[in-house]
Amino acid sequence: MPLELSKLDAEVDFPALTKCLFESYDNPLQNFVNVYFAPRGEDETAHEERLKEASNRFADWHANDPSSYWQKVVDTETGEIAGGALWNIHLDNPFAQPHSLEVTWLPDDGSRKFAEEFLRQYDIPRALVGQKPQVYLFIIFTSPAYRRRGVAQQFMSWGMNKADELGVEMFLDATPVGKPLYEANQFACIKENIIIPETETPDEAWKKIDSQVGTVTFHLMWRPIHGNYVEGKTMLPGNNE
Ligand SMILES: CC(C)(COP(=O)(O)OP(=O)(O)OC[C@H]1O[C@@H](n2cnc3c(N)ncnc32)[C@H](O)[C@@H]1OP(=O)(O)O)[C@@H](O)C(=O)NCCC(=O)NCCS
Repeated sequence: MPLELSKLDAEVDFPALTKCLFESYDNPLQNFVNVYFAPRGEDETAHEERLKEASNRFADWHANDPSSYWQKVVDTETGEIAGGALWNIHLDNPFAQPHSLEVTWLPDDGSRKFAEEFLRQYDIPRALVGQKPQVYLFIIFTSPAYRRRGVAQQFMSWGMNKADELGVEMFLDATPVGKPLYEANQFACIKENIIIPETETPDEAWKKIDSQVGTVTFHLMWRPIHGNYVEGKTMLPGNNE
């Protein structure tokens, strides 16, 4: 089996993994990445700096978050990373403590404010229905060169097994590109989340990133404990449970 799933080696894998992530989210181009990463530069040096910042940040988040579980799929013939996934395995309510991401990767101007508001809105639908232990899929990607060969499915199958083992629900926020993968795994779409950061005092940096990001729609998707979601029959998650 040339495409092998394993746990990420946090000591060595982040640079290659992040490179693979960048290539994956750029094909097709998904504009919301402008929120999560430093601005694209003009030349190769700027590109390397952007990559390095993201790679270091991923390593730092991972080291400081006990819920973080990174995986990779490697092409064992070439040693190349074909894809990656970041799970958050929450044994308790992930929203018990107020938390927000400090957007250190953007300059301290309107672009950072825009990104912080974007990330606040990103969390809202899940915070309404997901205040419970869960397996959350935060990031998943497959290099364009390895698509439709079951790489992402390996991650999904692992995550569903893990959720079943723990007896917990699963949540994720799907982009339109990712949605067919989750539908193929019987995840239910429970909320559309159209993210629209707004301010009464946009500076030039806010206007610029706003035009780069455009309108972003995520779909909050959910898998009940042990799966077997049946539309119209399975009770959806909510605050009244
Ligand atoms: C979404 C993504 C991770 C899928 O990766 P992949 O390794 O190609 O997916 P798999 O081969 O494991 O697909 C498993 C199943 O999901 C469904 N699926 C995956 N990609 C699909 C697509 N583009 N169109 C329709 N169905 C798709 C199919 O049912 C597929 O099974 P099949 O190939 O036997 O029909 C990949 O396209 C990607 O990295 N996209 C860019 C990053 C991204 O948007 N990530 C998701 C953010 S929510």
